[in-house]
Formats: sequence, C-alpha cells, structure tokens
Amino acid sequence: MAAGGISDGRSMAAAFALGAEGVQMGTRMVSAAESPVHQNWKSAIVDAKETDTVFLNRFGPGPACRALRTEKTTLLEKEPGENGVAPEFRRSQELYFGGDMEASIALSGQVAGRIESVRPVAEIISEMVAEFETIMDRLSSRFATARA
Ligand SMILES: Cc1cc2nc3c(=O)[nH]c(=O)nc-3n(C[C@H](O)[C@H](O)[C@H](O)COP(=O)(O)O)c2cc1C
Repeated sequence: MAAGGISDGRSMAAAFALGAEGVQMGTRMVSAAESPVHQNWKSAIVDAKETDTVFLNRFGPGPACRALRTEKTTLLEKEPGENGVAPEFRRSQELYFGGDMEASIALSGQVAGRIESVRPVAEIISEMVAEFETIMDRLSSRFATARA
C-alpha cells in the first residue's frame, strides 16, 4: 500500500510501477467535498503550490509532520519550541471546523500543489481509476509490444 503524494490515476500508476497494490490518499481526501473540515482548509490546499508546505518537528520531540505554510507554521519551522509542535494541536478543532488557519496546524502534503479543485469522492475515485487504466493500457501497449 503506497501513501504520500498520490492524487490521481497518474500518481497511482507511478506507485503501482514501484510495486504497490493499493494507494492511500490523505491530502486529496481531506480536500474532497464530503470531508468535514472547513472550506478554508480545502481552499488553501487548492490554492497551494507544491512549495507551500513546511516540514515540522524535524528533530522532535515526537513525530515530524508536513503542513500547509501559514504564519504559525513558518515560525514553528524555525523555532519549534521545547515541546515540539504537539501543543499546537490542542486548538485543532478551531482550524478543522472553525476554519481559523492560524489556530493550529493544517496537516497536508506537497501533493497539495497538484490538487486543483474540491470534488466529490465518487468523482475523484472514478476519474482516478479511469486515468489509471488509460495510462496502464498505454504503457503496456507501448512497451509490451516493443518487447514482443
Ligand atoms: C488531515 C490529516 C491528518 C493526518 N494525520 C496523521 C497522523 O495522525 N499520523 C500520521 O502518521 N500521519 C498523518 N497524516 C499524514 C498522512 O499519513 C499522509 O498525509 C499520508 O502519507 C498520505 O500522504 P498525502 O497527504 O500526500 O496523500 C495526516 C494527513 C492529513 C492530511
């Protein structure tokens, strides 16, 4: 099961080429229409370029994480504080459901740069599978034929 950086059929095909048999999407699903998070977070993902995230807690304590760049996360990237970023998640509900992007940390991957719209999950999945199949057909007809 591959995770990280997957948003569509093309990235799914890339993961399968590397040996995956399934994919998991975090950022793509948090920004889907049915996702319960505030529209501000979804819009920030849609607006983000692939360079608009920061890597936090690189040296701990606790796990490292990647998040959308905001004033807060830009500061935390440079000065994580003695207890790392964990205390920042105390106000996560204000970000998740209240839409205050500076209240906490909006966990999101670099793949945000490839997400261009908020779409219903059914559309995301059906387009993804169709694109995946088209790419696999194209690659196999091109390279399997060349080999034969
Ligand atoms: C809203 C959200 C919450 C997450 N929470 C966790 C978590 O609790 N623990 C963890 O290891 N990773 C967490 N992640 C990171 C996901 O594991 C990561 O996004 C996953 O590898 C998929 O990558 P992608 O976002 O590029 O699809 C979270 C990601 C998002 C978007």
